[in-house]
Amino acid sequence: EPEIIRDKDQMRRWSRAMRAQGKTIGLVPTMGYLHEGHVSLIREARTHADVLAVSIYVNPGQFAPSEDLSTYPSDFHGDIRKLTQIPGGVDVVFNPHNLYDYGGSTDASARASNGAVKSGGGETVSCLEDKGVGHETWVRVERLEKGMCGRSRPVFFRGVATVVSKLFNIVEPDVAVFGKKDYQQWRIIQRMVRDLDFSVRVIGSEIVREHDGLAMSSRNVRLSPEEREKALSISKSLSEARSSAGKGQVNCKELRALVIQAISEAGGRVDYAEIVDQESLESVAEVRRPVVFCVAAWFGKVRLIDNMEINI
Ligand code: PAJ
Repeated sequence: EPEIIRDKDQMRRWSRAMRAQGKTIGLVPTMGYLHEGHVSLIREARTHADVLAVSIYVNPGQFAPSEDLSTYPSDFHGDIRKLTQIPGGVDVVFNPHNLYDYGGSTDASARASNGAVKSGGGETVSCLEDKGVGHETWVRVERLEKGMCGRSRPVFFRGVATVVSKLFNIVEPDVAVFGKKDYQQWRIIQRMVRDLDFSVRVIGSEIVREHDGLAMSSRNVRLSPEEREKALSISKSLSEARSSAGKGQVNCKELRALVIQAISEAGGRVDYAEIVDQESLESVAEVRRPVVFCVAAWFGKVRLIDNMEINI
């Protein structure tokens, strides 16, 4: 069984004790409700580090007040059971109660001064400011966070980059593993580490899918059986687009139309379907270099994301 640590100072002491013993430390950040996708990241991390910490923390800083923070699924005991079954195992589960409230500085005026403005479908405050928590330092990866998920969720990547910075500062890992399922998130963390000289190696791990192709996600449990069936249109149409590109269809307009039509016909509401450069995440007009086709779509009340790399 992994040791469970809830206190950040204790977490840091554990890491420093491991380092003093000459051990390298791996970190896999998660929000819990673990599935095979998370498990594959843990297996990957195992191959790069002597000891392994998994964090389980649903970060209010990356949710807007209108989003699904309160309904985000959780099952801590189930998570621990799953982690215990992994060969090689996990040494520590870092499960802080709250990473932001350092006692006292809950200034309700934070809310007002941050200006709870609604624009373009997404709010510009997170659940932290909404609750008046006194946190004001944010990490922004300005260009990479602009498009795709950042457009519909303006506070999301700011919250992710900030909490991952906090986790890196607390755990001080040598290696951290992220899933390519959240492709933009992975690139943003890579870039942040480079730009801010964090001394951690960031590794991207392949997407794990259900047998029928649906990308695994903690949010999948919130789909009804019908919605789940319809949601297959995402991975199916992405595969079709990729094979079409492989056969010579390089026109991104056409490829995007294929995916948008398939998802819409299945009853999904497409948030975005973009073909972008794998590193810069800038849109491309033709598939002439390694690109990634990224999609976000709503099925009922659930927003799903998926992507496929197209390596030409
Ligand atoms: P969460 O959604 O729990 O995901 C944790 C990690 O698991 C992320 O790196 C994500 O990309 C990866 N992951 C999720 N589903 C996957 C799949 N089907 N295949 C491969 N990897 C998968 O992403 C977050 O949490 C948060 O934003 C976090 C980074 C923890 C910051 O709060």
